[in-house]
Amino acid sequence: MANASKLAFSTFATLEKGILVVFCEEGLKFGPATRKALTPTGDLVQRAAQADRFTGKSGTSLDIVAPSGLPVVRLVVLGVGKADKLEAQDLVKLGGVAMGKIPTRAEEATIFVEFSSSSLKPEDVAEIALGTQLRAYTFDRYKTKRREGEEAPAGTEITFAVSNPTATEKAWTREREPVAQGVIMARDLINEPANVLFPDAFARRAALLKKLGVAVEVLDVPAMKKLGMNALLGVGQGSRKDSRVVIMRWYGGKKSEAPIAFIGKGVTFDTGGVSIKPAAGMEDMKGDMAGAACVVGLMHALAARKAKVNAVGAIGIVENMADGNAQRPGDIVKTMNGQTIEIINTDAEGRLVLADVLHYVNTRHKPKFMIDLATLTGAIIVALGQEYAGMFSNDDKLCERLTKAGMATMERVWRMPLGPEYDKQIDSKFADMKNTGGRFGGSITAAQLLARFVDKTPWVHLDIAGTALGSPQNDINKSWSSGWGVRLLNQLVADHYER
Ligand code: BES
Ligand code: MN
Ligand code: ZN
Repeated sequence: MANASKLAFSTFATLEKGILVVFCEEGLKFGPATRKALTPTGDLVQRAAQADRFTGKSGTSLDIVAPSGLPVVRLVVLGVGKADKLEAQDLVKLGGVAMGKIPTRAEEATIFVEFSSSSLKPEDVAEIALGTQLRAYTFDRYKTKRREGEEAPAGTEITFAVSNPTATEKAWTREREPVAQGVIMARDLINEPANVLFPDAFARRAALLKKLGVAVEVLDVPAMKKLGMNALLGVGQGSRKDSRVVIMRWYGGKKSEAPIAFIGKGVTFDTGGVSIKPAAGMEDMKGDMAGAACVVGLMHALAARKAKVNAVGAIGIVENMADGNAQRPGDIVKTMNGQTIEIINTDAEGRLVLADVLHYVNTRHKPKFMIDLATLTGAIIVALGQEYAGMFSNDDKLCERLTKAGMATMERVWRMPLGPEYDKQIDSKFADMKNTGGRFGGSITAAQLLARFVDKTPWVHLDIAGTALGSPQNDINKSWSSGWGVRLLNQLVADHYER
């Protein structure tokens, strides 16, 4: 794990050094073990609280350096408000806030995980631990020099003082550490530059999931030609790097049960092709594979926690370049399911990649449902901003479940319309359809094209162009990419699809 801190679990022991973090409920209320640990400081905390008007409200804190009576270098008191009101997502956030109070140069810190008014289950503590790990992540592997006074992140050792360390550690390693790793894997893939993470390199990273018991199949260009995936291949034909499709299978459920399927857009770099993008901000297009990264991170999480579900993850990985061999506007390609698409704009490439992968997964694996994730359109950023992903679907029940999972993880989705009325926007003079639908409803016409490749299978398309890149900074993410979607889909699976 890049830059993750080391975690340990212990009982409430007296500290010798490092940083102590404790939680405080409104009304300056502490749990019993915390009160005992703070006894040697006398009325220090009360006086500091009074001086700072700290009462324990959620989002506030007290930071006391070299507290007299304690051998620690720093005492952090975190306000949590009313502890019985905290839901899983608040606990994740609390972990992030706690981690944010621990300087990166610190060698060790102990968090007293205890409230005064309600007790914490091992799973609750694991949520807090998840928050610390997500917050601690930074992508700095290409920084060879640091500014003066800046130290390399130490990999702080964090000890969680809890009432039941054995059960807590179990909850962490079995249920939550796999999710943390999945999110961090997705972040790493997305943050990685495109000279390092080209299609085959991405495929090889995905193949590492074999170690966890995931079956990984890689389709190379000849294999895809044989299958007739010409829409996907057309996008990649201008690149010096060969395209790939990777299919990952985790079968932890009943043998006879149809799998659920996740499909990701994996454009390792999107120049726009011949319909080239403007220079400003083009570097962000190294992240045009965020959908695929999410699918890989999710498959990691499911396999690492041995989820009792049959799941297929499939990613179409291509590089969209401008080149003598690149696809042209006006070109017509035939997809794997025999439909023809006229290329109007070579920058509308994601839907071409997904069209073939959706059809492939649907016909080969006969899934119960398919969910695709793609940084598909700039239009979805205009419509929804960066807090909600656009959701397009032919299935109300799946939408409802995703909406709930989104609220629970704060990776939220907002449903957008689809419908035959939009079809005329993608009618083509020369082919069955064209790959752009004009300025109006750009995210909808993109989804409308995808719908033609899913047949009657329940399907959701998530347009994550706004949520996956240049992610809003918050308590559990300080990285350019948040790894959006891994926690959302893991939650969906855990809530509904594990036997
Ligand atoms: N990868 C882009 C969409 C995108 C934009 C993702 C900004 C993340 C941030 C996609 O391939 C694209 O270029 N879409 C075009 C479609 C248009 C040509 C119909 C767009 O949105 O402008
Ligand atoms: Mn594009
Ligand atoms: Zn793109």
